[in-house]
Amino acid sequence: MAVTGAGTTRTVADIMSHPVVTATADETVGAAAERMREQRVGSVVVVDGDRPVGILTERDLVRLAAARAAGSDLVRDWMTPDPDSVAPDAEATSAFASLAEHGYRHIPVVDGGKLVGIVSMRDLMRIAQIQPADHLALDVPRGLEGVVVAETAIGDVRGLEGFYHYRQYDAVELAETRSIEDVWHLLYEGELPNRAEREAFMREIAPLRVIPPALLEALPQIIIAAPDAPPLEQLRTAVSLLGASLGFGPSLDLSATELRQQALRVCAVVPSLLCALYRLKHQLPVVEPDPDLPYAANYLKMMLGETQKPEHARAVEHYLISTIDHGFNASTFTARVITSTGADLAAAVVGGIGALSGPLHGGAPSRALTMIEDIGTIDKAEPWIRDAIERGDRLMGFGHRVYKTDDPRSVMLRSVAERLGGPNVEFAKQVEQKAIDLLAELKPGRKLYTNVEFYAGIVMDACGVPAEMFTPTFASSRVIGWTAHILEQAADNRLIRPSASYVGPPPPQPVPDPD
Ligand code: ACO
Repeated sequence: MAVTGAGTTRTVADIMSHPVVTATADETVGAAAERMREQRVGSVVVVDGDRPVGILTERDLVRLAAARAAGSDLVRDWMTPDPDSVAPDAEATSAFASLAEHGYRHIPVVDGGKLVGIVSMRDLMRIAQIQPADHLALDVPRGLEGVVVAETAIGDVRGLEGFYHYRQYDAVELAETRSIEDVWHLLYEGELPNRAEREAFMREIAPLRVIPPALLEALPQIIIAAPDAPPLEQLRTAVSLLGASLGFGPSLDLSATELRQQALRVCAVVPSLLCALYRLKHQLPVVEPDPDLPYAANYLKMMLGETQKPEHARAVEHYLISTIDHGFNASTFTARVITSTGADLAAAVVGGIGALSGPLHGGAPSRALTMIEDIGTIDKAEPWIRDAIERGDRLMGFGHRVYKTDDPRSVMLRSVAERLGGPNVEFAKQVEQKAIDLLAELKPGRKLYTNVEFYAGIVMDACGVPAEMFTPTFASSRVIGWTAHILEQAADNRLIRPSASYVGPPPPQPVPDPD
């Protein structure tokens, strides 16, 4: 890995920020947070005189907000003590390596025991932006692992800690305590609604669930043209038609209010489209949205034809909330890239659906359930899993780009599955343990654990959702996250246009004459 610019090697001193925003251990977190907000920084270094003794980051503020009953609000009780540091004469390369490797966002720069600056990914990105691309050699990890490509106030994933949040709230806590409409409001408006705001928001959404009549008439054509296509492929065609028929123009030409209206429309109607396509495919009558039912109950009714048990609607709602957003995952990034070109909102959502449909992203839950069914009995688990890993197959529902510990969504869904009960739950838990043990043995050091998709299939199956609708159900909630990101990108847009490192035969070479 190398970070160089204009032919010279940069040291940390060249790129660090100073003076550093600091705090002391015995002031309150509130006072430190206020300073972070005023100075627009993501962390404060806690000092004793000139000596750094800790670091307090936005992550710690979220933890404090989540632990509402916490006894102390002093910086010393929430900071990370004795943070790793770098010397000012260290090469930027090694600072970048430690940021990417440990998941740090900020590293204090210390010279002879004294705090002299702070270096962050943002500093490294700043170099990248001021150098002409031709003169910049910035080798990033394959798959952009650990590379920060934007700023967002929507949420984040802290993979090393097994934690993710929407705005400032723990996402799992939101899933356990709030409705999907509340979380949708949080993502769009920046705050959880009070009772009156919730009711107004639900009144705003309810009519938007209805599929425009011309599009409803066209849906059977999609089924006729591609009767065996997976529902997500049919959905992406339907969303494309929706945008075109409603006349969505380039996002570049729209006001924030107009774009928000389109975003609400798409999110509200996607569940209706998915259920209509599913039912048309199975020669069942389309069920209209029920304006009196909240999101999840309405979704299950439109899919299965009648109102389902409240505990099933709630379990599916847990899953939906937990999958609304998840940092810069592939589909969210795709939606933001498309929006950065000024293209229309439907184009960005269609791109998101395309990225999500891949088995390495959203396409895993039905495969995870199939794996459990294929294994069949616990005595077959060890040979089945060992063979699969030794063949080089990936176990669906295991591993994650960011989480190198338990995926908190999988922990939550495991307990939802336990509450629901059913024949598969105990067996799935046994398979999970066996798979984790074998992955540790056969893929040592890779830190492979269960991801959100493993128990998603178990939960949805127990609630009567057919396997072909697992990934579509994921899409129906993630569209809320995509559109929140689309609105954020459009509000402060710059074309996303990275560079690639050319590795083919050296140019220019004479173009051979045609035969
Ligand atoms: N089963 C077996 N081995 C695995 C698995 C898995 N599920 N996941 C990763 N590995 C191994 C790889 O074979 C590789 O081993 P190697 O070093 O011997 O070559 C190593 O772990 C690292 O794998 P990468 O592909 O570099 O890891 P990456 O971070 O790119 O992959 C991914 C993340 C794509 C999710 C991967 O873990 C995977 O394919 N999982 C299965 C599919 C899945 O469950 N997807 C849903 C993800 S959650 C979501 O998107 C909502």
